[in-house]
Amino acid sequence: MYLNRNLLKNRKGFKILLNRNYSTKHNSSNVIRQQFLDFFIKDNQHEFVKSSSVIPFCDKTLSFTNSGMNQFKNIFLGYQKPAYPKVANTQKCIRVGGKHNDLSIVGSDSYHHTFFEMLGNWSFGDYFKKEACEMAYKLLTEVYKISPDRLYVTYFSGDAENNLDPDLECRDIWLNIGVKKDRIIGFGMKDNFWEMGKSGPCGPCTEIHIDHLPTFDSVNRGYDVNMDKSDLTEIWNIVFIQNYRRNDGKIENLQEKFIDTGMGFERLVAFLQGKSSNYDSDLFMPLFKKIEKITHSAPYTGSFSGDDFKRDTSYRILADHSRMIAVCLADGMFPEQNQKLRRILRKCINISVKHFGHQNLMIETVPVVANILGDTFPELHQKLFNSLEILKYEEEYFQSLKDSLSKGIKEIINQNPKLNDLDLFEYPGFVPAYQDFNKYKKSNKKEISGEMAFKLHSTYGLDIDLIEKLAETENMTVDIDGYEDHMEQMKNKLLESVDGEKAITLNDLILSTQNDLKYEYSYDTSKHLFCTKPVQTKILALFDGNGSQIDSSVDAKTSSIRVVTESSPFYYESGGQESDSGYLIKNGQQNRVNSVTSQKERVFHSIHHDSKEVITVGDSVELKIDDTKRTACTRNHSATHIINAVIRQLKKLPIYQKSSLVTSNQLKIELAMIGPKLSEIDVRNIEEAVQKVIRNESLDRKIEIVNSQQLQKQLDKIVMVPGEIYPDDNLRIISFGDLSTELCCGSHVHNTNQIEDFTFSSVKSTGRTSYLFTGLTANAARRAIQKGDEVIDELNKLKEVASLDNFNETLSNVRRISTELMSMEISYLKKLECLKLIEAIKDQIKNESRSAVSELLDIEMKAVSDKNKDSKFIVHFLTCSELMKNVSLQKATRLIDDQKPVIIVSYVDDEVKARCCVPQQLINEKFDAEKWLKSFADNLKSKVEPPKGQNKLEVCFMKGRKVKADLFDSMLQTATKSAEKFASENC
Ligand code: ALA
Repeated sequence: MYLNRNLLKNRKGFKILLNRNYSTKHNSSNVIRQQFLDFFIKDNQHEFVKSSSVIPFCDKTLSFTNSGMNQFKNIFLGYQKPAYPKVANTQKCIRVGGKHNDLSIVGSDSYHHTFFEMLGNWSFGDYFKKEACEMAYKLLTEVYKISPDRLYVTYFSGDAENNLDPDLECRDIWLNIGVKKDRIIGFGMKDNFWEMGKSGPCGPCTEIHIDHLPTFDSVNRGYDVNMDKSDLTEIWNIVFIQNYRRNDGKIENLQEKFIDTGMGFERLVAFLQGKSSNYDSDLFMPLFKKIEKITHSAPYTGSFSGDDFKRDTSYRILADHSRMIAVCLADGMFPEQNQKLRRILRKCINISVKHFGHQNLMIETVPVVANILGDTFPELHQKLFNSLEILKYEEEYFQSLKDSLSKGIKEIINQNPKLNDLDLFEYPGFVPAYQDFNKYKKSNKKEISGEMAFKLHSTYGLDIDLIEKLAETENMTVDIDGYEDHMEQMKNKLLESVDGEKAITLNDLILSTQNDLKYEYSYDTSKHLFCTKPVQTKILALFDGNGSQIDSSVDAKTSSIRVVTESSPFYYESGGQESDSGYLIKNGQQNRVNSVTSQKERVFHSIHHDSKEVITVGDSVELKIDDTKRTACTRNHSATHIINAVIRQLKKLPIYQKSSLVTSNQLKIELAMIGPKLSEIDVRNIEEAVQKVIRNESLDRKIEIVNSQQLQKQLDKIVMVPGEIYPDDNLRIISFGDLSTELCCGSHVHNTNQIEDFTFSSVKSTGRTSYLFTGLTANAARRAIQKGDEVIDELNKLKEVASLDNFNETLSNVRRISTELMSMEISYLKKLECLKLIEAIKDQIKNESRSAVSELLDIEMKAVSDKNKDSKFIVHFLTCSELMKNVSLQKATRLIDDQKPVIIVSYVDDEVKARCCVPQQLINEKFDAEKWLKSFADNLKSKVEPPKGQNKLEVCFMKGRKVKADLFDSMLQTATKSAEKFASENC
């Protein structure tokens, strides 16, 4: 399909030998970029705006920023006011999915990329078509000095189906500029009507195409425009944003008109540097050189066919993907959070290994990308350390997955080796999915239907890329539209449910609730409380527990209702913070507000309507918040920010927040940290640093309210939650001194000293890289610390006296404390100290008894016999077993009065064992050693057997069973109780 770049026929049919370089004198890409920016900014008074992040934080319709206009979408929609009337920039764009998806082509041609820079200029009501075309033409022909003979322009030729007229105005503008008539070509919707996605701002466009071949004569190549020719490519798209595509597919006019342009920087650079392929420009060549140098491979030859094609394609894929990966990581994207990025990275690792015999070439190439693009995008340098850490981690993780490739997947790959190229081990559901797919395929299907594709996705977790690749291996196609319809239906179903309650169908007549009051609270230093003022308001609407609107009033019998009010001081559940609770008061009668939610700017107060007052739409009511609960949530929420900031400061690792949950009882924050495991010393350092901020540093809180445009300017200093989609407006940037800056809608303390105190109550590893931190603030923290100190004191006292003489009693106390520790709200680090003390006490006794293990057993068994002098049977847990490596239960049972039925239980190295003896004369139909021990062992799901050659009615043992220390106590208790019950009823 693509031309062999080295051998072309000229237009008169003579073979000519082309060099990959058309000319040797050229500007660097940095100069070319600067010329563009200078032309618009200096010569034509545009304002420079920074490229937005490639992560579209405020747009749930996109997974990556795919065009320069993304950050201005809300201006086009009329939701935001532009900060400047005309702007220009170079925008980092990624096209690996959705409407504009170039991923599968990358590497096989000279000009498609996953990541590219889009040079753009925009007018927000300033200039329109004429000026946009004139400036573009001037820049190309006068600044870049491109001959008009190399240029073609296109315009929109109209579309009857969508009722859109041809853009003859545009055609005439080009004629007036001086473009020859036969170089102005009309195209339809596909080529000359630009849309950013399924819905959104759009409009007719005019494109400038460039002929990369040297002009041998004046032959017009208009017939090659839009024909996917690598030597005649679109270079600049000038969009006249004047329409809006609705979700239902209809196109309507926007109120205002805008200019949105995008020029492919890599194509421009290649052309101006006289190269036939983007990859031959200075934006890519250093990457090839690096790979060559590191791997000692044959050099990149730039071929698109023949013997070198395969190797050169691998070079190109690696170079292209290195740029994409570098940019994504520098913008704070984590492969763990973005499966597309992870898959591309894994593809690179596979290519590195397979074609270059090297583990992960990205580690070598990403710093080269930073060198090439770092002056324009400084974050590539700033985040390089983090990026490399993530790359190393991803490589190790990928290797471990490959090593543990499941047997089932290995068998499938053996049967169908083509599947080897797909990263199947990422899909735990692949084996059953493949079986299902095989059955489906057997009915001679040529296409995977939308329904089947959706099943493979929703039931087995395969994503659409994999489904397409799977289809390819079987020469089948996929009904993508059908699949998307099913996805859409599922999304709609999900949206229907709000917080587990039945969705509320909102009547547009219900006005939205004024809710800014939730942020109005003052701190009462004497009461240590954030106080809110009660609010007088009016009831706008009532809903029953099922979400159905109630016409006018609710009587006292209706217990559970939701009330929408004109204004509300209540914080509704959002940003991981639970909602306020409080009261809705009518005529002095209180109704408890249990929880509060929001839907489309209406605040719903779920109340327990227990007063005698009838509640009616239009009623004047008072809303009063429970300040104690709000205060606790506020403190806990601010503490999560401090923890997040302190950990980033201390650990200096790539860290991202996975989730958080703030309630009045505690706070939870789950962080992923790429790097070495967290040690106890780390946790101690973190806790101390958080305590220092709270107890000593008194950092003031600042709030800045911005919109998505303003946010882009300061993204590099703001902590956000990857994957989270933020609103476009009223974004709250919460800072505590220079320590912490987060985007957050929660309620926060005014100064860190209002958090009063802090301690972790638990720190748990929740995966390969993640930790869940649970913490307490203020009084709850103080209590947990104090409780810890008390237990430590008690254990220290036990340790002082612990000896062989009192080991039984000491160990019983230790066991009691261990059990209490499990349910106690205690400082995590103090708890660790307690556990260490417990071990130390055991060691102390062990050391003393080293030469006298049997002595311990004798002492304990004697004590047991004495204690149970008058009982009919004995069920005993052998405390001293915890101190031993091995324990002879046979010996232990023998030490007991042999006229009594006995069960002795031991616990050594996390393993529970038991032995049971029943004297012959006490055996009856209902009671014997096997039956009795079974009543114990069933609780531990363990088996009971007699020792070889012995009578199971007289003696049995329970097979050893592993039980974790924290579960042992409760299990022992339950099993003991059931054995005691059995014996008292049957013996
Ligand atoms: N938004 C237009 C594009 O991406 C300029 O091509």
